[in-house]
Amino acid sequence: MKAIRTTLAACLVALSSLAGSPADSQLPRAESSRVDIDALLVRMTTSEKVGQLVQRMGGRQRALNSRLGPEELEKVRRGEVGSYLHVAGAEPLRELQRAAIEESRLGIPLLFAMDVVHGYRTIFPVPLALAATWDPADAESAARVAAREASAAGLHWTFAPMVDVARDPRWGRIVEGSGEDPFLGAAMAAAQVRGFQGSGLADADTIMAGTKHFGAYGAAEGGRDYAGADVSERTLRETYLPPFEAAARAGTASYMTAFNTLNGVPTTGNQAVLRDLLRGEWGYRGVMVSDWRSIEELMAHGVADTRAEAAGLALEAGVDMDMVSDVYAEELGALADADPAVMRRLDEAVRRILLVKRDLGLFDDPYKYHDTAREASIMLASDHRVEARRIAERSIVMLKNEGNVLPMAREAGRIALIGALADNAFTQLGSWRARGQEEDVVTLRTALEAVHANVTYVPEGADAAIAAARGADIIVLALGEDFDRTGEARSFAGLELPDAQNELLAAVASTGKPLVVLLMGGRPLPVPNVHEHADAVLATWFLGVEAGPAIVRTLFGDNNPAGRLPATFPRATGQVPFAYDQLPSGRPASEDLATDTVRYRDLPITPLYAFGHGLSYTTFSYGPLSLDQSTIPAGGGSVTVSVPVTNTGKWRGEEVVQLYVRDPVASVSRPVKQLRGFRRVMIEPGETRLVEFTLTAGHFALWSQGEGWQIEPGSIQLMAGGASDAISAQGELTIIGRAHGAASPASIAVESSDEGVAS
Ligand code: NOJ
Repeated sequence: MKAIRTTLAACLVALSSLAGSPADSQLPRAESSRVDIDALLVRMTTSEKVGQLVQRMGGRQRALNSRLGPEELEKVRRGEVGSYLHVAGAEPLRELQRAAIEESRLGIPLLFAMDVVHGYRTIFPVPLALAATWDPADAESAARVAAREASAAGLHWTFAPMVDVARDPRWGRIVEGSGEDPFLGAAMAAAQVRGFQGSGLADADTIMAGTKHFGAYGAAEGGRDYAGADVSERTLRETYLPPFEAAARAGTASYMTAFNTLNGVPTTGNQAVLRDLLRGEWGYRGVMVSDWRSIEELMAHGVADTRAEAAGLALEAGVDMDMVSDVYAEELGALADADPAVMRRLDEAVRRILLVKRDLGLFDDPYKYHDTAREASIMLASDHRVEARRIAERSIVMLKNEGNVLPMAREAGRIALIGALADNAFTQLGSWRARGQEEDVVTLRTALEAVHANVTYVPEGADAAIAAARGADIIVLALGEDFDRTGEARSFAGLELPDAQNELLAAVASTGKPLVVLLMGGRPLPVPNVHEHADAVLATWFLGVEAGPAIVRTLFGDNNPAGRLPATFPRATGQVPFAYDQLPSGRPASEDLATDTVRYRDLPITPLYAFGHGLSYTTFSYGPLSLDQSTIPAGGGSVTVSVPVTNTGKWRGEEVVQLYVRDPVASVSRPVKQLRGFRRVMIEPGETRLVEFTLTAGHFALWSQGEGWQIEPGSIQLMAGGASDAISAQGELTIIGRAHGAASPASIAVESSDEGVAS
């Protein structure tokens, strides 16, 4: 029996320190990593200082244009710009950098930024799909490839990872993050920061992470994008902030503010969260950028009357850089000249921006990101494609497989491939495609026709689909959303499939032929009719450039699916938000309609597919849960929880072993389940592996109003299984004594992902 050790110990990793400048100060121009930032600051005019805080867009918003007009270049020469976003290209950005270095008075380098979210040219699965791997190493690897390509194209900075916990799939931006759970989200957040930033910002193939959108953007009321979030401090701390905290521990070089209000205060002007919590409590010393025009939007939010007030509020809160609203550019100079307190804040912000430029090595070699030969050779490199396919395969979640209709036999006979999404290359790039190209994508249709001689493809139309289905031995039907249904400003009040797709489903199902549905999309979809009609259902999200091969290899069993849902699939839109970690309520959930209980009377009490759900071509069984000790002191120590897992089927395959905990009696009501450990494990047929999790008392801390993180005495229930609704082994642990916690328990996930497999 092999043992798999997952250490979740809460060793505090030092936060990235971007502060501190060397003592020497001989440099008139900013040209060395030993540049004395303080001496440079002293030499800067107010206008040059403000310039460092200004981020402008490179070209038109939609089309990339990195060659700027004469007026824009004049701004650079005058030192009025610190950064450009939505630019790319080693050669044009070298020219732009040259203007800053050689033609501005102080020669301070520019920062070039872009939303490189799930790939630059080699597009990987969308972040929600990456989270479905339940393997932070995959998210890290995707980010590493993205950083390699983006840095070769002259970029220093990405606005990623997006770590907003999202529990309402009406919110279109759920596609950009890791789903509903703070523990899984924290692990994915930290992994992506590590991937983008590699072993250090000074390396030319790394880029600054821009963890976003700090606050509780994911809690936008009703899932309406940009709407306010009204959450208690406990919910904020326990649910929404852990991934941000994890990103800080992993050393994120920057954050971006959320657009929306948090308990009535827009985050972009929110001192309590930006200055007191992030910079004060967490000791964060990196850069904070506003979201797009969100400083200007402080007026629309009704907390600033004028642009000058908006500028003052944002700077005081701790926003260092103004993304495109030009409010800082227009207002801060006068404010700072009139008030020494504002000037001090301005200096702090400038210092943070200069320090990160120094950390990137731009004062040493401002052109190191502009190697055109590297750019030409690295884009869509074959090893990048291989990695994109590997991770796409690992993102696929098998939701149903009745009668083992999957995997399909090689000699599957005639296949009817139905649905326009099966051949929609653009859609597979998903939201935020950076420089991803439609022609780089291998669609499902192309990939299937490449390996199987007898495929009849029908994009749409019930009559043609029925005819093809009748003539086939098996039907593969692609349903779901196209890329434009999810992403920013793409909230929907109804998540059900469109009528045309439901009709197509009913039509092909009526033929009685074996039916496999591939569910594409960027959010959990309420599709009870798909579950009812299909023999097999795979969630295939938007999988990037290698979508087709990854799906086809899964259909034929070259890949044994092992992805798991990072967010609950509801039965109807009216059931959302419906995350698994609910509070028990005074009238706990019950199927019994005669009992007054916490449920909708017109729906079963369960979701369609639970958080953590996902099937395999093999089967697994769990042995009993054991603990190396039954008590843990609140003040320290750890306990090892282990569970043997056996592959009882015929295929080698991976199980995602999930460990949930519950504190049944505490000073406040606690969730019925909370994820506190997970591990994706390969197990051979007939083999048993012992999966171990190390828990510290910190894993059970709760946020106590006024007292912070508290570890309370009493018993803790432990539950292990293959999904949040498939608990196979249980145990109990007792916490002795009471103590203060040091961090959010979910953010401790950061340390869990690095552990290897011990035999
Ligand atoms: C607005 C989006 O909210 C944010 O996520 C993105 O990074 C910026 N635009 C820049 O494109």
